[in-house]
Amino acid sequence: MFDIEKYIEENKKLINDFLLAHFNKKYDKKLPNNKFSLNDAMFYTLSNGGKRLRPIFLIITAESLGFTEKNRLLPFASSIELIHSYSLIHDDLPVMDNDSLRRGKPTNHLVFGEAAAILAGDALLSEAFVILTDKQYTAGIECGIIVDIINELSFSSGAGGLVGGQFFDIMSFKTDLRLEEITEIHAGKTASLIAAACVMGGMLAGANENIISSLKNYGRYIGLAFQAIDDLLDITGNSRFTGKTAGIDKNNKKSTIASVLGIEKTRELIKEYTDNAIIRLDETGTGFPMLKNLSYYLINRVC
Ligand code: IPE
Ligand code: IPE
Ligand code: MG
Ligand code: MG
Ligand code: MG
Repeated sequence: MFDIEKYIEENKKLINDFLLAHFNKKYDKKLPNNKFSLNDAMFYTLSNGGKRLRPIFLIITAESLGFTEKNRLLPFASSIELIHSYSLIHDDLPVMDNDSLRRGKPTNHLVFGEAAAILAGDALLSEAFVILTDKQYTAGIECGIIVDIINELSFSSGAGGLVGGQFFDIMSFKTDLRLEEITEIHAGKTASLIAAACVMGGMLAGANENIISSLKNYGRYIGLAFQAIDDLLDITGNSRFTGKTAGIDKNNKKSTIASVLGIEKTRELIKEYTDNAIIRLDETGTGFPMLKNLSYYLINRVC
């Protein structure tokens, strides 16, 4: 029987190994007064735990569709993790969520200072596209597919996705939002990158347009469920497991799904989102049993 926890652990290790090899002293130069390198600041957050969920979404989707060469998937999968990690560094900055704990350690700006944290985030974002266009990683993948992937990832991480969602999120502190408005924010800041991971996995495996469209909708719903759980864990979670500051949303007077609906109704909504996500997988005719397994695993998460 398929063991999702084992699958996650195995793939997490492969992703971590890829990242370690890629960043091995890559940007390690220091001028005389520098106490640390850009590589240090970038790799601090990137290497610091993390569930590696987005890369795993890409790998599991591609493998579900019959893509068998894992080594070719790792650079594409890892490029999403670079963008995710940059977004976390910037999300924690004093002018954003002003957070002090990330992946169980002090946030990047508390260790390296705000300027270095901003630059480390910027550099991670650009490095994602260095990886996606590096021939040593992309050999054997059709150029047209790579262009489609770059378009998907840049759009979903930019103004039309993650950054757009973060913009509304940050601009709405101390504002009472309606559920539809919060959903729009979550669709941008969280669901779009998760959906992109699934779509990129589909593209690499040569999936047709109908399947790509179902994967996008699946990713959107499971991403909404994922952020609703994150909001819930902000209230009910334990920093020891989440590696994040408990109660930061309330401190920031942020409207979240849980602050608007309460805990029980948020749990119902998470189930509704998940059911909707699963329907999108069923409509493909492929069923995607491994992705379904991952979905159920994720909605029961405590970290
Ligand atoms: C945190 O994402 C930010 C959200 C979109 C909720 P994750 O919960 O995937 O964080 P890591 O990568 O495991 O640290
Ligand atoms: C941020 O959402 C999502 C990002 C794009 C980084 P949150 O602000 O809720 O994420 P956490 O709780 O700090 O991980
Ligand atoms: Mg935030
Ligand atoms: Mg935050
Ligand atoms: Mg949160």
